[in-house]
Amino acid sequence: MLSTVQAKLLIVDDLPENLLALEALIKREDRLVFKALSADEALSLLLQHEFAMAILDVQMPGMNGFELAELMRGTEKTRNIPIVFVSAAGRELNYAFKGYESGAVDFLHKPLDIQAVKSKVNVFVELYRQSKAMKEQVLALEQSRREQEALLQQLQSTQLELEQAVRMRDDFMSIVAHEVRTPLNGLILETQLRKMHLARNNAAAFTPDKMHAMVDRDERQINSLIRLIEDMLDVSRIRTGKLSIRPTHFDLAALVRGLLQNFAQQFEAAEASVSLDAEQPVNGSWDEFRIEQVISNLLTNALRYGAKSPITVKVYSDGDQALVEVQDQGIGISEDNQKRIFQQFERVSVKEAVAGLGLGLFISEQIVAAHGGTITVQSRIGEGALFRVCLPL
Ligand SMILES: Nc1ncnc2c1ncn2[C@@H]1O[C@H](COP(=O)(O)OP(=O)(O)OP(=O)(O)O)[C@@H](O)[C@H]1O
Ligand SMILES: [Mg+2]
Repeated sequence: MLSTVQAKLLIVDDLPENLLALEALIKREDRLVFKALSADEALSLLLQHEFAMAILDVQMPGMNGFELAELMRGTEKTRNIPIVFVSAAGRELNYAFKGYESGAVDFLHKPLDIQAVKSKVNVFVELYRQSKAMKEQVLALEQSRREQEALLQQLQSTQLELEQAVRMRDDFMSIVAHEVRTPLNGLILETQLRKMHLARNNAAAFTPDKMHAMVDRDERQINSLIRLIEDMLDVSRIRTGKLSIRPTHFDLAALVRGLLQNFAQQFEAAEASVSLDAEQPVNGSWDEFRIEQVISNLLTNALRYGAKSPITVKVYSDGDQALVEVQDQGIGISEDNQKRIFQQFERVSVKEAVAGLGLGLFISEQIVAAHGGTITVQSRIGEGALFRVCLPL
């Protein structure tokens, strides 16, 4: 590494023959020798190049070698260049130049001793190479330290993300377990009860009326299990971008009317009244199954969080948009929470008191967005909520 550093040397003397002689002495393949016939010339070279050392003739017309050294000492770029003065005068001159960076000044006497010149130059060039290599190493070290720091920061933020993901997974698992256990508990209790009746030959427990009610209850529990599993599958479809939309032509008003009929029993059970305002057909091309899923979730939410209040559903078109509104007079949602409820697993109003994974609105928004539409909410705490789905016609 050291040998690759090329060293530039500056020699200054007012006599060209002196310069040539000195150059011949110190020249080598890995050195570049610059010659200056005056202090002015030397200064301009000093500003252009980075020199390993300068050899200055002390006696020169105009600015002499000491004055030039004085100037070099006053300039940042040249302050640390080692200087060798060449002088014909006696030894007392040796110390005429004081105050220059210690150790960076030396003297040669005319007539020049070839060995002395060569060895001094060798020493300074070697010093220059070593300090240059050291600087490069320091720079490289600093660079690698910065890289390590950046890497460390990356690691730390990845760790935080991981911890959050693990926490979310654990929360999710416990919610899922709870949600799955509820319908399963219902089913197993029913089964045990029927087994008991059978063991006692209790035919009265299996009259056609009672059988009907049983099958209905079973169906509801099984359907809620299926819905849970479908919701979880939808989330993974959304994550992998595989939620597909299969549009067909249909009337949105008719779809909502049919859905409300399906929900009639649930409305009754929840003691909530519902009114539909859908006079005109609203025909368009959307994925019927998916849109039904969106509106079902809005109706379920209105039932869950509507506090038995009257629910109004409206279907209409406005310009190039089809709109479905579901409004309740229930507990309402604060402005801060309105932003959160469309995210996965976000449940804000009641937490564990009411069933649900906190996935319905997340999935609904993704479905509506996949149709090029929007789903928005208007609400205030205690004043109910209005959810509006806009679909392009
Ligand atoms: N009509 C509403 N009134 C008040 N709060 C609501 C209403 N609809 C939704 N929310 C709040 O938004 C949350 C998220 O709703 P979302 O439908 O995404 O999930 P969920 O109903 O809790 O569970 P899931 O739909 O997965 O069964 C609800 O938990 C509830 O706190
Ligand atoms: Mg819901």
